[in-house]
Amino acid sequence: MSENVTPYKDSGLGKKEQVTKMFDTISGKYDGLNRVISFGIDIKWRKKVVQIVKDTNPETILDIATGTGDLAINLAQTGAGKIIGLDISSGMLEVGKKKIAEKKLEDTIEMVLGDSENLPFEDNTFDAITVAFGVRNFENLEKGLSEILRVLRPGGCFVILETSVPTKPPYKQGYNLYTRHVLPVIGKVFSKDRSAYKYLSESASVFPHGEKLNNILSKIGFIKVQNHPQTLGVATIYVASK
Ligand SMILES: C[S@@+](CC[C@H](N)C(=O)[O-])C[C@H]1O[C@@H](n2cnc3c(N)ncnc32)[C@H](O)[C@@H]1O
Repeated sequence: MSENVTPYKDSGLGKKEQVTKMFDTISGKYDGLNRVISFGIDIKWRKKVVQIVKDTNPETILDIATGTGDLAINLAQTGAGKIIGLDISSGMLEVGKKKIAEKKLEDTIEMVLGDSENLPFEDNTFDAITVAFGVRNFENLEKGLSEILRVLRPGGCFVILETSVPTKPPYKQGYNLYTRHVLPVIGKVFSKDRSAYKYLSESASVFPHGEKLNNILSKIGFIKVQNHPQTLGVATIYVASK
């Protein structure tokens, strides 16, 4: 199960603390690594998420696990008046705040330190909520998703972008080769934190994806749940409503 996959197994810390520590540690290198790991395709996936959200004309958007804020920054293109980026890692948020200031988006985007499993917002607050590459890091997936449902307004739009695992040969074998043999080398070259990159690929392979995540979303209470595999199934965009 995904709960057993954590970055620093022998640290004695819970998954949440380990994940926070890991992202604080790699925050300065995160953006560069992201592009290398996904060959830059993540930019295309994020654009699709922005288009899905834009089509719903939201005024308020919450980007959970916003990290260094790439999706929050792209979401400014939706024309939303207020975008909040929330993350549990202050290191990631600091990198994001600098990018937002450089783009002069401080009036639209606010970065908030917080936990997706205990959101500091009233019920039914946001027109749209997004999470990119965040849900698989939650300590308690169902609690995080329940909190998202609580703060989403009825009829609102929820979009998840998350890694998934190709199911069809030969992509499945190619993916295994890449995650088991190529990713650890990239991690070693770019970061001193080897456990972080081991965690990133291990957690991707055990996380429920496709229909399994659809079923979890429906069980939590989301409606109109759909999943759209991207690029041979290495990532999936999930769309749901309340
Ligand atoms: C892989 S990064 C993704 C960042 C960004 N969304 C992106 O697309 O580049 C995952 C982020 O999830 C955050 N995270 C993990 N658990 C969280 C939680 N319980 N609440 C809020 N953020 C969390 C981490 O701190 C990290 O910044």
